[in-house]
Amino acid sequence: MKKIILAFALVYSQFIIAQPKQTGLATLPIIPLSKELKQSEGNFPLSTETKLVLMNDAFKQEVDYLNTQLKTSQGFELQIVNTLPSDGNYIIVLSPDKKTGANEAYELSINPNQILLSAENNQGLYYGIQTLVQLLPVEKTTTLKDFQVGDTSPPVVKFAEVKIPCVQITDAPSYQWRGMHLDCSRHFFTKEEVKKYIDYLAMYKFNVFHWHLTDDQGWRIEIKKYPLLTSIGSQRKETLIGKPTFDKEGKPSATDKYDGKSYGGFYTQEEIKEVVAYAKSKHITIVPEIEMPGQSLAALAAYPQYSCAGGPFETFTRWGVSDDVYCAGNDETFSFIQDILTEVMALFPSEYIHIGGDECVKERWKVCAKCQKRIADEHLKNENELQSYFITRIEKFVNAKGKKIIGWDEILEGGLAPNAAVMSWRGTQGGIAAAKQKHYVVMTPGKPCYFDHYQSKDKTKEPMAIGGFNPLDSVYAYNPTPKNLTAEEATFIMGAQANVWTEYITSFSQVEYMSMPRMAALSESLWTPKAKKNYKDFIVRLKAHAKTLDKMGVNYAKHFEQKK
Ligand code: ACM
Ligand code: ZN
Repeated sequence: MKKIILAFALVYSQFIIAQPKQTGLATLPIIPLSKELKQSEGNFPLSTETKLVLMNDAFKQEVDYLNTQLKTSQGFELQIVNTLPSDGNYIIVLSPDKKTGANEAYELSINPNQILLSAENNQGLYYGIQTLVQLLPVEKTTTLKDFQVGDTSPPVVKFAEVKIPCVQITDAPSYQWRGMHLDCSRHFFTKEEVKKYIDYLAMYKFNVFHWHLTDDQGWRIEIKKYPLLTSIGSQRKETLIGKPTFDKEGKPSATDKYDGKSYGGFYTQEEIKEVVAYAKSKHITIVPEIEMPGQSLAALAAYPQYSCAGGPFETFTRWGVSDDVYCAGNDETFSFIQDILTEVMALFPSEYIHIGGDECVKERWKVCAKCQKRIADEHLKNENELQSYFITRIEKFVNAKGKKIIGWDEILEGGLAPNAAVMSWRGTQGGIAAAKQKHYVVMTPGKPCYFDHYQSKDKTKEPMAIGGFNPLDSVYAYNPTPKNLTAEEATFIMGAQANVWTEYITSFSQVEYMSMPRMAALSESLWTPKAKKNYKDFIVRLKAHAKTLDKMGVNYAKHFEQKK
C-alpha cells in the first residue's frame, strides 16, 4: 500500500511543479482579453466530484458545451444538478438572475471553492464558458491511469484535480459586429472545414461569419429553382497557375499558364442548413454573400440570358474580374436574382444579406441597348447610377421580406440605397462617408483587414499570397472607429471584420496559416477596450495560447514578434 501512496505522491508533486506560475495577468492565456479582470491568490480545484449546478434549463446547451470541452481537454465531464449541493463539494453555479442589460455580457468569478458564471442570456454565458475553457490547463494534468502504474491492485482513486486560477471577470464586447469572412468561391472548402473555421471564430468570441458563396470563379450554393447554377456554375474547366498577366492591349496574356484540371464544389441546401445550425449553436450569425451585379460570371455561364451580351460563357478560370455582368436593363434578371435571394433568405436567419456590389465592370452596360434604355427611362446620369438603381431595386425586395442588405463600399457610388449598410474595404473613406450619411458600417480596410496579404517581411518564408503586408502587430493596433467621426456618427460603426480571399489559398491548412493568429489579434481590437490593449502583453498571452493551437493541430503562422 505504501508503494501506491508514494506513486501517488510522485505523480501529484510532478503535477504541482508542472503548473505554470501565476505571476500576473499576462500569464493567463485569455484572448480576447476581458474588459475587467482581477486575478487573486489561489485556485479552484476542479475534479470529477465537482457538480455543475444548472439553475435554468434554458442554459442546458451551453452547459453541455462546457462538459464537451472538459471531456476533450481534461478527460472527464461533470455531473449536472439543479440544486446547490449541501456537502460543500466544489461547485459551479450558472445563474440566470443577473441582469447586466448588455446582451453579450457575462461575469465569471473563480474562487477557491466555487466558480460563479452569470449572464443574462445564452450568448453571454457561452462567452463566459469560452473564457473558462481558456483557463483550463492545456494538457490533461493527470488521469486515473497515472495512479495505477506498476500496481497490481490499484486503489480506487476518486478524482483527479485540475487547478483553475482564481479570477474575477466582468466582460462585454466593444463592438457588436465581430466578423471573419471566408471566400469559398475561388477555392472550395468542405462543410467540415467551414465548421472548423467557425470553431476558431467561436474561440475568439467572433459573432459573424461572412460566407462568400458566389463569384466569377464558382457558384457554391444549391438553388433549387436554378439547378444549372451548381451543375454548371460550380465547376470551372481549369485554373490559372500563378498571377494573371496582360498584354499591351490589356487582354489576358497568351503566355499565361493553366493547370488543365477541372475544379468545383458546392453546398447542398441540407449542408447549408447544417452549417447555419452549427454556427447558431456557437452564437455566430452567418451572413451569406451573393455577388451582384458584377463578379457573376459563374451564374452567367449557367444562365447567359441574364447578361448584356448573351454569352455563351464559361466559369472564369483566371483571377481578377470578368467584364460580363448581369444586365441591369432586363427585368428578368431581377426576377432571377429575386428567386435566388428568396431561397437564400429562407436558409439564412441573418438580419443582413450581403449583395456584393464591388468591382462591377460597366463596359457591357455602356454598349447594351437595354441598359442604356434603363438609364434613359429612369433619368439616371450614368452607369454608376445604374448600379445604384440595381442595388436599390434589390434592397426594396430584400427589405419587403424583413431583411436588410449590406454591400461593399462601391454601393456608395451613384447613391446609397436607403437602408443599406456598407462594408468599407477600399480604405476607410467609404465607411466614413456612409456613417456621415447615418448608414451602418462594417470596417474591413485592406490594411490591415485583408488576411490574404503576407504577414512576414520575408516573403520567401511564406506561401505565395496575393500581395500586401499585414503583420500581426498592425492587425492588433487596428481601431475600427475612425478618429474624424463625431460621437454620433461613430455609433454607426458596427464593428469590423477580416477577409480571407482565396485565389492563392488552395487548402484549408493554408486558410489556417493566413487567418491565425491574425484572427486572435483582431478579436482583441473588437472585444477589448482600447485602453486595456497592449501588444507585448498580447504576445505573452498568445505564446501561452499557442499551446492550445498546437494541441488542436492548427497550422498557424509563427511571425509573432517582428516589427512593421
Ligand atoms: C473586394 O475585395 N473586392 C471586396
Ligand atoms: Zn445590359
